[in-house]
Amino acid sequence: MIDPAFIEEVLIPADKLQARIAELGQQIDCDYAGRDLLLISVLKGSVLFLTDLMRHINVPHSIDFMATSSYGNALDSSGVVRILKDLDTSIEGRNVLIVEDIIDTGCTLSYLLRILRARQPQTLEICTLLNKPARRVVEVDVKYIGFDIPDKFVLGYGLDFREQFRNLPYVAVLSPEFYADA
Ligand code: IMP
Ligand code: MG
Repeated sequence: MIDPAFIEEVLIPADKLQARIAELGQQIDCDYAGRDLLLISVLKGSVLFLTDLMRHINVPHSIDFMATSSYGNALDSSGVVRILKDLDTSIEGRNVLIVEDIIDTGCTLSYLLRILRARQPQTLEICTLLNKPARRVVEVDVKYIGFDIPDKFVLGYGLDFREQFRNLPYVAVLSPEFYADA
């Protein structure tokens, strides 16, 4: 059972999430019609989003995974990004769409974009479920955004607090009392 003490409020309920993800899928479908598409999911937070999103994408596509680390268990970015797992496939000449859970400072994505661009994909775009514009440190060009959210720490629907709560079907705001001891 989820301890309700961790949750301040439900920010995006499950039905709103799913409706928006369906819209994003339809948009991606139109934009990538007739093109070879590769979805890259950044582990672990974006896994739920990827699997729901791809069910709304009808154009032929494949998926691959990367894992980066920038946060450890802290709530604020250290600004240091490490690749923990690289792609299995080459992206040269392909239409690549990075599927992210959340863009916060933008540090992780700007780093990822830099190394993926060097591998010469035909196109390289970003689809993020959540966007925290108030926290941006590095400007990144994002093609698809599910929801702009306020500067609060959120959990659920793939996003974790201390590696837990990823299973929640909604996005919730962490109770501020836990910000301090994180
Ligand atoms: P950025 O490099 O600051 O944009 O950080 C992006 C990563 O930080 C995301 O992929 C998440 O793993 C993590 N992150 C940022 N904000 C939150 C949040 O509110 N809840 C959970 N994880 C977050
Ligand atoms: Mg992530």
